[in-house]
Amino acid sequence: MSTNLLKGKKGIIFGALNEHSIAWKVAERAYEEGAEFILTNAPVAIRMGELDELAQKTNSDVIPADATSIEDLEKLFDAATKKFGKIDFILHSIGMSLNVRKGIPYTENNYEYYMKGMDISAISFHKVMKVAMQKDVMNDWGSILALSYIAAQRVFPNYNDMSNAKALLESIARNFGYHFGIDKKVRVNTISQSPTATTAGSGVKGFDAFINYAEDMSPLGNASALACADYCISLFSDLTKYVTMQNLFHDGGFSNVGVSQKVMDKFM
Ligand code: NAI
Repeated sequence: MSTNLLKGKKGIIFGALNEHSIAWKVAERAYEEGAEFILTNAPVAIRMGELDELAQKTNSDVIPADATSIEDLEKLFDAATKKFGKIDFILHSIGMSLNVRKGIPYTENNYEYYMKGMDISAISFHKVMKVAMQKDVMNDWGSILALSYIAAQRVFPNYNDMSNAKALLESIARNFGYHFGIDKKVRVNTISQSPTATTAGSGVKGFDAFINYAEDMSPLGNASALACADYCISLFSDLTKYVTMQNLFHDGGFSNVGVSQKVMDKFM
């Protein structure tokens, strides 16, 4: 259902890899709601070729950028300015841990991989906002979002060093949100999403058990990628202008449940 919530709005969407990606769903929904945007991802992800299909469907340009490279981000924002003038929204939907990928347990983390993971999954959010602010690309009352997970607050052992990355990501949103609010009335938030079957999600060891447990713990069940996209649209729209510096749980109620009857029943 489209209600033109984003009509006239322009943006940049980071992180659509394939049709399972949360960013892919956000792009489809943003297009349906009347937004225009640039799609971006790391050059290696773009070479996989699937993003072209989304670009055609949503009538958007694809511009490669490694989100850890200031030079790439500067080129990306220059291209966005050339195409749109100022923009209204940015989605940071980026995550990667080499320790997770290589199956290295948290207590034995390789620090080179750890730093790389922090840079890609969290510090890149600071870099994106720093370049956006320096180049003055955001319209007043714009909205910037990143995606997080509750492992920032609670221990989920297999989430490994991504837990630390998400804690840093949420802290960056709060702190940059203060400065961007004063500077431009731009709001900055993170959405803490249910476990979702995507390429990044499925990389977590024991993901099936993880997602089933969350399903049984959440009164509303796990939120899908499409439902997450709907929430992102509301946060890019003018209906949420005073929501900023928040970590917003989009998890079917998981974060406030101690134990559910469904999980209790398994121990009776
Ligand atoms: P995904 O694998 O589809 O998306 C991750 C994206 O990060 C990919 O498009 C990848 O190419 C991009 N990326 C990796 N390194 C990059 C770099 N250096 N520069 C630019 N882009 C880079 O998976 P998903 O699940 O859609 O992930 C999106 C976000 O949602 C991530 O921040 C993830 O941590 C978060 N999230 C995912 C959950 C899940 O269970 N799938 C739950 C909660 C949050």
